[in-house]
Amino acid sequence: MDPNLETGKSDPITEKAGKTLAELGVHDEAGVQALFDEVLTMYRAEHQRVVMMGAREDPEFGKAAKALHDRWLSQKHGLIRLINDNWLRPAPKELKPLVGPQFNQLRLQPTAEIEDLQESAASVARAVAAHRSRVAGPDLTLPGYRRELGSIHPVTRVQRELEDIFLGIGFRIETGPEIESVYNNFDALNIPESHPSRDDWDTLYIDSQTLLRTHTSPVQIRAMHKYGAPLYIITPGKCYRNENPDATHSAMFHQIEGLAVDTDITFADLKGTLDFFAKKFFGEKTRTRFQPSFFPFTEPSGEMAASCPFCEGRGCRTCKESGWIELMGCGMVHPDVLRHGGIDPERFSGWAFGLGIDRFAMLKYGIDEIQHFFQSDVRFLRQF
Ligand code: PHE
Repeated sequence: MDPNLETGKSDPITEKAGKTLAELGVHDEAGVQALFDEVLTMYRAEHQRVVMMGAREDPEFGKAAKALHDRWLSQKHGLIRLINDNWLRPAPKELKPLVGPQFNQLRLQPTAEIEDLQESAASVARAVAAHRSRVAGPDLTLPGYRRELGSIHPVTRVQRELEDIFLGIGFRIETGPEIESVYNNFDALNIPESHPSRDDWDTLYIDSQTLLRTHTSPVQIRAMHKYGAPLYIITPGKCYRNENPDATHSAMFHQIEGLAVDTDITFADLKGTLDFFAKKFFGEKTRTRFQPSFFPFTEPSGEMAASCPFCEGRGCRTCKESGWIELMGCGMVHPDVLRHGGIDPERFSGWAFGLGIDRFAMLKYGIDEIQHFFQSDVRFLRQF
């Protein structure tokens, strides 16, 4: 290694840089030129030496680049600084126009080149550290990566809350595929091809026998085949319908299906369970209401509503002054559906419900636009 770089000891240039032009006896253009040539030659040699160290991956490369930087560019004692202070500034008027351009050339080249060298020394150091961490485990002295903490998505949060209520009364969680057979999604649920109620679901078909499930009800069929009766399950998951997005509709949304199959299950079990559920979720004061409805896979079918948790049934904006909030469709499992699931309707009966998780999340957090859930805007998500 160059002794000057190592020790910073005096060399001809350092000595000269400490003196003025007058002290050096330089009084004309030729003298100025010769002096700057000498400096540049010396600089080039030193720079070249460090470049070569980098090229052969010398372990001292980083140190040498730093030493070169300090020797030439240090703000306090660097050669460029000394030459500026001793040659340029005190130069007599007639020499200034000659010294100025020479000095600028000298300053610009090393500054750019040395900075490049240090950058490549840094990337070599990074590569070496990366290599070391591969062969010898991570360098524990390095600062860690700081990752931004995420949070649970509001829909997931509400899904878990809903699940917990049912898990607490003996239901288990069962899931099914989002890509489903037309048979499970429709036929087995007592919706034959010709039946007009198929049109109630704007279905996204993959081919004539496969679709994106329009509800979680097909998991009823899968679970009946898989476990038989008795059966107590809830089935959270994504569903798809060919809807135009608006404040309350999204082509992808979330449902939870509930299914209870056992001996002697009656509508009273359905009402009791869903009333218990509504009180757990919205508060003990909540009242529930069941109105007749129609679904091909339940008979009788109903719509279940809860007294509005915001106005306690007096009427407000959220419940559209009705005092009630529609929560879900439900009913007694149609005997044909039990049969399609391989369960004997003479021995077993059941009830089922299907609810929209997104809607529950909107109610819970007072969100009036379902699209917020699926736009991944951190300004929205950070609030949960
Ligand atoms: N699958 C129905 C829907 O998506 C909801 C439902 C489920 C109704 C189970 C009754 C029983 O609208």
